[in-house]
This record gives sequence, C-alpha cells and structure tokens, in this order.
Amino acid sequence: MQRITTSPKARRPDNRRPNLQRSGINLQAIIDSVDDELIVIDRDLCVTQVNEAVLKRHGIKRSEAIGQPCYRISHGLSEPCRPPACECPVAVVWESGKSVRLSHIHDYNIGDQTEKRHVDIIASPVKDGQGNIVEVVEVMRDVTEARRLEQQIMETNQNLLALNDIASTVNQSMDLETVLNTALDKVLELLKGNTGGILLLDKKSQTLSYRAYRGLSEEFVEGVAGLKLGEGIAGRVAQLGKPIYVDDISKDPRLTREVVIKEGLRAFASVPLQSKKKVLGVMNIASHTAGPFGHPDIQLLISVANQVAIAIENAELYNEVQRKEEMRGELLRQIISTQEDERKRIARGLHDETSQALTGLAVNLQVVMDALPLDVDQVKVKLRRIQNMAINTLDEIHRVIYELRPSLLDDLGLVAAVNWHAENYLEAAGVKVHLETIGVERRLSAEVETALFRIIQEASTNIVRHAGANSASITIDFKHASVAICIKDNGKGFDLDKVMRSKDKGYGLGLLGMKERVEFLNGSLSIQSRPTCGTEIAAEIPIEWEITDGQDKSVDSR
Ligand SMILES: Nc1ncnc2c1ncn2[C@@H]1O[C@H](COP(=O)(O)OP(=O)(O)OP(=O)(O)O)[C@@H](O)[C@H]1O
Ligand SMILES: [Mg+2]
Repeated sequence: MQRITTSPKARRPDNRRPNLQRSGINLQAIIDSVDDELIVIDRDLCVTQVNEAVLKRHGIKRSEAIGQPCYRISHGLSEPCRPPACECPVAVVWESGKSVRLSHIHDYNIGDQTEKRHVDIIASPVKDGQGNIVEVVEVMRDVTEARRLEQQIMETNQNLLALNDIASTVNQSMDLETVLNTALDKVLELLKGNTGGILLLDKKSQTLSYRAYRGLSEEFVEGVAGLKLGEGIAGRVAQLGKPIYVDDISKDPRLTREVVIKEGLRAFASVPLQSKKKVLGVMNIASHTAGPFGHPDIQLLISVANQVAIAIENAELYNEVQRKEEMRGELLRQIISTQEDERKRIARGLHDETSQALTGLAVNLQVVMDALPLDVDQVKVKLRRIQNMAINTLDEIHRVIYELRPSLLDDLGLVAAVNWHAENYLEAAGVKVHLETIGVERRLSAEVETALFRIIQEASTNIVRHAGANSASITIDFKHASVAICIKDNGKGFDLDKVMRSKDKGYGLGLLGMKERVEFLNGSLSIQSRPTCGTEIAAEIPIEWEITDGQDKSVDSR
C-alpha cells in the first residue's frame, strides 16, 4: 500500500502571512482591494469601516463616511431600510446571529441622473472572543445589469414560447378565416393590445382589404378597403415588404384616407406578411394613444407576422388543392358519364345499323340460295360460306355491343350482367368462375351499377390478360347500407407498389380507373396482390337510404 507522509520538512512553507506583513499590507488594504462595496456597521447602525469602492461611488473621504448612518452611506437614504420592500440586513443579523442574504432596490445617483439599482447584500456578524456580535459587515454588489439581462432572457423566452404557441395554433387550421382570426387574437393578447387587423392582398386587383380585425369600426374597415400598393402606410408596407411604425399616425403625411384620422388611431405599427419574399398582406397593430411601440414589441410582431404568413400560404394552398380536387371530381364525373353515353351510342349504332345490315345480308343470301337451281351446288356452298361469315360477324358484333353496354345491366341489373359477362368472357377464355351473391339482391342507381360492373369487367380483363389464372371467384354482397364486390383469381399476382409507382403512362390505367370510380361514389377500394399469390380486388360503395312511410327505401333502388 502506498502511503503519503508529510514531514515538517516536506510541508510547503506558509509564507503568505509573513509576505503580507513584509510588504506592509494590512486588513484595510485587503478590504479596499475588493470590488464590491463593503461597510462595517455597529449596533447603532453607524459605519465603523468602509472600503474604497464605497468612497469611490460617493466621491467622499473615509473620514466623512466613518460614524455616518449606514443607510445614508450605503443607499443614500435619510432613514433606515424598512420591510417589506427593503428589510434591514443589520437588524436581521443582530436578531438571528447569522449571516443573511437580501436583495434591495435603491435609487442611486449615477452622474447627474438617478437610477433604480438592484443590490444584492450579504450581511454577516463580526463576533468577539466570547462569541458576542460586536459589529456587522455588509458586502453589497450592484447586480442591476445581471438582473436586466435575466429579465431580457426571461422575456425572450416568453416571446419564443408565445411565438411557438402562435405558430402551432395558426397551423392547426387550414381554414383561412380561422387562421387570420386566431393569429390576430394571439398577437393582441401577446402585445396586450385590443386594436389591430390583417389585410390581405388581392392578387388580381393588387389591392389590400381587411380580412380580420379587432377594435376597429366597420366604417373604418370599409373606408380603407381596396388600398392600392404604395397607398397610405399599409400600402407602402406591402409594396416595400418592410415594417413601418409611427408614434402618431394622425399626424403622418403619408395618410391618404380621412377615415383613419376619424377612427382616432395614434400609435401604429404595420408589418408585412411575406412568405418566400412574396407579400401576402399586412398586419397592423394600433393604439388610440400616441407613443412609440417598444423595439421588442416590433421584433415580436415581425416574427409573428412571418409565422402567420406561412400559415396563410398553407391555408391558401390547401384551398387551392381543395378547389382543384373538386374540379377534378367534376371533370371525372363528366368523363365517366360521357364515356358511358358514348358507349351506349356506339352500341345502339352497331345494333341498329351494322347488325341490321348484316342480318339483312344473311337473309338475302338465304333467299338467293333458295332461288338457285339445284345443279349449282358449288355456288351454293360458296354462298353458305359467305352467309356463315356474316353470321359470325353478327355474333362478334353482339358481343362488342354487350361489352360496350350490356343491355342486361339496364334491364335486369348488376347480377344478371355480371353472370353473363363471367360466362361469355372469363369462362370463354378458359377461367372457371364461381359467382356468389350475398344478401337480398336489389336494383341500385345506374351510377353505382355501372361503376361496379366496370370494375368487375376491368378486373376480369386483367385476369385474362395478365394473371394466367384458371379459376376466379366473384362475390356481390348486398349489405344494408352498401354494396360490396370482390374479385379473386388464382393467378401469378403482381407487385402493387411497383405498378402504382410506375412512370410508364400506358401502364396501370385500369386499376387507377377502378379507384377513381369508387372514390367518386364515396366508396373504398382495396387491391391485394403478391407475386405468385393471386390477386384480390374488393370495392364497397355506400348506398343512402331514406325513410318513407316507416319503411326503408334505398334512394338508389329503382
Ligand atoms: N389479376 C392480375 N394478375 C396479375 N397481374 C395483374 C392483375 N391485375 C393487374 N395486374 C398487373 O397490374 C398492371 C396494371 O393493371 P391495369 O389494369 O392498371 O393496367 P393494364 O391492364 O396494364 O392496362 P389497361 O390500362 O389497359 O388496363 C398490369 O399491367 C399487370 O402487370
Ligand atoms: Mg387492365
């Protein structure tokens, strides 16, 4: 075990005391070297000792300080410090016998001005050999700058919290009116004001008008509507993208509208609402009394304005997206109905003209064949062949007519049309189909029946074209408030994400079309597929019901 021993020889010689003594430094010199103010006070609150710092601040000699009341020397008061504002530290020390720390605020003369100063005081007892208090020593430190800094940090922190609060509150809504009103209320609350407003810039007319306001009359708001860029104070702020604040707007030469003076506004701050250097509007805060806005208030207003501008832009973008979404929906509705109309027209045309003509041709050929003499068998064979070709073409045309718009769908409804399609398309292509209907079958609106039929038709086409399946199932479930369909195959499946992400434009329109049709009718679509695991497509479309004569009646039923 290692042991450290200190022999009298090894000990560091304590040469401080002799040094002090040697250089003639005494206690007075030590207390004078302290930067803080130090005074020693006796029981009668008289100063018995002071250091240089005290003398320097008062500009007096030591002899002028000794014997003076401590409150005069330390704080320039004519009577002792009193609680609650300023408790006398000396009294506390005499009473408790212990050191005490207190904070005082006193008026100090600095140059030719009087200033409030924050002073931290540590008072400690000086005891004799028997432990009796004989005097009190006070060390005072001016902490005004530190307090000011602390206060500034606190205010900055509060402002940051408020800013954060504003940012999160205004970003909670995508509704422009709500954003503007919430932002304005928060700003006024923060600046402890009650008058202000937000003007937005109309992109077309390039004019500003109030969209949210507090403490302003209707007359004023109407009176300043349509403010041009560069006009008045707000117009200039919007034009320059820079804040303007005036102590008394009623005397400002930039005023163009009388209504502002009538409103009795005085102190006025106007900051631009800009996002990505683009001015969206202006936020004004006003007061009915003249006087400058504090710099921190303006700074805060600018920071808030930046947040509000982002929220406004978000709300405007959201509105734009909503508007476009509505337009897209409307366009889709038109495309789908035009497509269906067009399919009907072509089917009718093919049926009424082409297929009639082909039927006529076949009949006429028969007539010609019957009229021919018996010894022209070879001609008859050729004619029979032509007739068969006409009949086959006729069948093909009927199939096309059916695919375009199955009359069964209009006449007998979804189940009959799907049944026909499964037999004539899927089964004909070698895919065994199991068709199941759940619930009580009923007629639905043409829109819903067409959408569901088209989805089944597209899913079947995909099974034949891509799946390589040999069996499939189709389920139609008539629920109380909706109709659900499900098409499953046992084919090779596919990677849905890959297909949906594909940039190839000619790829994936069928699945996309299903999604559009379903969403358009407020329904839902689910596509489940994995390579080698087959594919399942499920769609559900809600059906609204209305109550008539105590009986449920689907508005979709015919
Ligand atoms: N049942 C299925 N089995 C296997 N792959 C499928 C199935 N359904 C769709 N797919 C895959 O998904 C892709 C996208 O299908 P979608 O119907 O959207 O487009 P498409 O059939 O290629 O073209 P179209 O726009 O003519 O319908 C297909 O190309 C195919 O690769
Ligand atoms: Mg397809």
